[in-house]
This record gives sequence, C-alpha cells and structure tokens, in this order.
Amino acid sequence: MSRPAANTRVVEAPAKVNLFLRVLGTRPDGYHELETLILPISLADRLEVHADADPSFRTLSISLDVTGEDALIRDVPRDETNLVVRAGLALADRTAVRGFADIALDKRIPSAAGLGGGSSDAAAALRALNELWGCGLDDPALREVGGSIGSDVPALMMGGPALARGRGERVEAVAVRALSLLVVTFPFGVSTPDAFRWWDEAGGPAGPDPEPVLEAARSGGELAGSLFNDLEAPVARRHPEIAEAKRLLLAGGALGAVMSGSGPTVFGVLAGPDARVEQGAEEEIAGLAGRPPDYVTAKGSSA
Ligand code: C5P
Repeated sequence: MSRPAANTRVVEAPAKVNLFLRVLGTRPDGYHELETLILPISLADRLEVHADADPSFRTLSISLDVTGEDALIRDVPRDETNLVVRAGLALADRTAVRGFADIALDKRIPSAAGLGGGSSDAAAALRALNELWGCGLDDPALREVGGSIGSDVPALMMGGPALARGRGERVEAVAVRALSLLVVTFPFGVSTPDAFRWWDEAGGPAGPDPEPVLEAARSGGELAGSLFNDLEAPVARRHPEIAEAKRLLLAGGALGAVMSGSGPTVFGVLAGPDARVEQGAEEEIAGLAGRPPDYVTAKGSSA
C-alpha cells in the first residue's frame, strides 16, 4: 500500500459486541439507564480521513464517500445524518475549527445490527480529526463530544474493552481476556429506539448483577454461561431467528451465546482461537441468516 498523503490518517473502526447489557430503567430524558460491557472485535470498517484546519477558510466543509458491498452500504447515508459527518460537525463546533475534511469510509460492519458500526466510525473520525485539525482535545473532552453523537461512541473511543454506565457516557476500561467468537448477522436491521421501546412495553425487568461476568472476563473463569442481554427477549419475540441462531450456536458447540446490543446480531463464545462450531450447525446458521457467520476475535486487555 502506498504511504498516505500528508494530512491523512487511515484508521480502523472496530465493531463491538456486548458481553452483557443490563437495562436498569427509563430516565427523565427518555433514554435508559444501562450497564454494559462493550468489547471491540476484529470485524472493522476502515476510514481514510484527509483533513486540515485553516483559519483563512470562511466555512467548514466535510465530504463523505462510502464504499463496500452493496448490501452493506445501500442504507448508509452520505449526508449530515451519517454519524461520521455529525462527529466532524460537533468537533468543529466545539473547537471553532474552519477548514475541510474529506472522509472515505469503507464499510464491512452491517448497519442497525447491534454491532456499533456507525458509532465506531464516528469514534474513529473524532480521534483522527482531533489530530488533523489540531483541536487538542484530551480524551475526556473528546469522549464528551462523542457522547453527543451517540450513546455507544464514548465506549468505542476507549480502544479496548469498556464498561459503560448511565446512558453510555460513563465509561471505564476493564480487563478482559482475549475471546474467540462466532458472529451471526442477519439481512434485516433492528432500530435501537424500537428495541428499547419493546423493552419498556414488556415492563423489564433488569438482568442479574453483572459482577460474575466481569469477574469471569477478568480472570479467565467460566464466562459463557453468564452472558445476558435484557433487550434480547423483547427483540427475539419479534424476530424468532435470534432464538434459533442461539440454539444452533449452542448445539454446534459454542460455550455460550447472546444477542449483541439492540440486535439482531447474535454471537457465540468459542473455546479458543482454533475452535469452530460443528459443520452441520454452521451450515444451518448460514441457511438461517442467508450468509455464513464470521469467526472473529476480541483482543484481550489488562486495562
Ligand atoms: O444514543 P443513540 O442515538 O445511539 O440512541 C439511539 C436511541 O436508542 C435513543 O434515541 C433511545 O431511543 C435509545 N437509547 C436509550 N437508552 C440508551 C441508549 C439508547 O433509550 N442508554
């Protein structure tokens, strides 16, 4: 690959899965109080950000080009409704930057999948633009800008496993051992507001104390049996494929399986880097989802 031009950064924006997601209730601002463990995985989008700040500019201009498989990018907006553009505008607003940013986004992460693709793109763009525009925001300030873009953005700016609380904006790095996962994505999306509304309609309740999952994630203890996601039951009621994918993952030898985020993606935890689910189960999963599942890794962190 040729060396990137001056004023250009090429950055990865990893997808995430939630090892647990606990919804503690609704908040006065309409959001939900959460506790969730967010783990970046090896499935990633790629951004090439070419940008410069110049006080002689009278305006700020941001352009976005999106490439990738047709099915992945069909519904990805190119305008200011894209979280990447919103991130750039929010950073420029906060720091009074004038100049330009030309961003090329190569999508690998499905949208509206519960994998945090749009949020991770925004997180990566914010970090790159903070450097290229010379904004000089420190990590907490940059995360604050991220939090104004979306609830998952601050956790995805941590660059490793993160425990998120509040609406998602209160984040801390946590130690999690490396994990091998099988990720099942579907050709349909689930809107995050719908998933939370369905949880409201079902009347909760909140899941168990997450300390055992956190402890197992830290220590390398038995983790797979303690995965949970409070949004899973209400979403799976509307999309039975989710329960079926979980059943097939477990039947094929995954140690545990759960829906990620607001769904519909489901992932299984595997015994180790070379582990595969049994071939028949993998074929059934591919038939159910309309595409083969993805073997991915989540890097460990000692936080
Ligand atoms: O913050 P973000 O824009 O990603 O959230 C999308 C939607 O998901 C919100 O408008 C809200 O309906 C729901 N949500 C929530 N509580 C959270 C995060 C998201 O209710 N903590």
